[in-house]
Amino acid sequence: MAYKIVTSPAAMRREMLAWYDRHRRVLPWRAVAGEISDPYLVWLSEIMLQQTTVATVGPYFTRFVERWPTVFDLAAANLDEVLHGWQGLGYYARARNMHKCAKVVAQDLDGKFPETESGLSTLPGIGPYTAAAISAIAFGEPANVVDGNIERVMARFFAVEQPLPDCKEVLRDLAGDVAPKTVRGRPGDFAQAVMDLGATVCTPRKPKCLICPWQRSCAAKDAGLQEELPRKARKKAKPVRRGVAFWVMRDDGAVLLRRRPEKGLLGGMIEVPSTDWLEGEWTENKARKVAPLKSDWTALPGIVRHTFTHFHLELSILATRVGVAESLTDAIWSTPDRLGEHALPTVMKKVVNLALKAG
Ligand code: ADE
Repeated sequence: MAYKIVTSPAAMRREMLAWYDRHRRVLPWRAVAGEISDPYLVWLSEIMLQQTTVATVGPYFTRFVERWPTVFDLAAANLDEVLHGWQGLGYYARARNMHKCAKVVAQDLDGKFPETESGLSTLPGIGPYTAAAISAIAFGEPANVVDGNIERVMARFFAVEQPLPDCKEVLRDLAGDVAPKTVRGRPGDFAQAVMDLGATVCTPRKPKCLICPWQRSCAAKDAGLQEELPRKARKKAKPVRRGVAFWVMRDDGAVLLRRRPEKGLLGGMIEVPSTDWLEGEWTENKARKVAPLKSDWTALPGIVRHTFTHFHLELSILATRVGVAESLTDAIWSTPDRLGEHALPTVMKKVVNLALKAG
């Protein structure tokens, strides 16, 4: 199906950039108007913003830049410190790839990020969206930058009725038709303008069409469909996985932690040891057999719930006390007041909170 453009792409770009010049959000990684941004800051922010909101990322970004002001500083940082600083942003593979990428840029590329989408795409953790965003925002390269906000704006402007995610390709093509094709068309500003519009005006619920620079030519507004679009295919329900966490307190007050395997979910993060997380039920007996040590275990009241991308997790907790002589390979012992020094993912912080409350 062909989508009708009732205005010209050139007019759309002009209207959007004029709106951006008046209403752009002030964000910590953005250069002031007219200046080109520091590629390191653009890269860092784009990695952090994957699957996370601008509001969440702000303080993380500021802390990272204070601590590691250049790509050389980040490359020289210890991975554990980086993971620790990342705590709460989730998807820790992103932090590991980010650190890997910093090393490649610092060590092999003399600290300079490639300027093109294809060059950027060769780096760890930089997928098609991020490559397009960095090349446009940091280097002013014409690129088709499409994130969730831009998809929503396009779906409405062109009244695309096909639901997400099936219409992603259509939306990408439409965004590509509208995006600037030359450096002079300010590709980075244009992409960020549509993102800002999506975040502040063309919002998921109750879009503020009356203040939108594209209101006169928006097909969804014309048809009164702005609240319905984009349609979404019904999501498959996430399965529930269950596991048992083992809360082991030594007589001197230290708690048993260990490092998760490098590969897989929460790779390399610190955790309260637990059974595998499976879709079936765990009985106490079954859990005891895979506990990190033989002991008398007590079930603590309550359940820890946490949702990951592909499943809900429910963890129950078995607790025990051991003597200071207890020796375990790969154990990390930490007193509760020093738990904050470890790269504990959010789900494990929930385990710690529940166990401390119960104890
Ligand atoms: N989301 C991802 N990148 C962004 C940017 N540069 N500005 C606003 N929102 C964003």
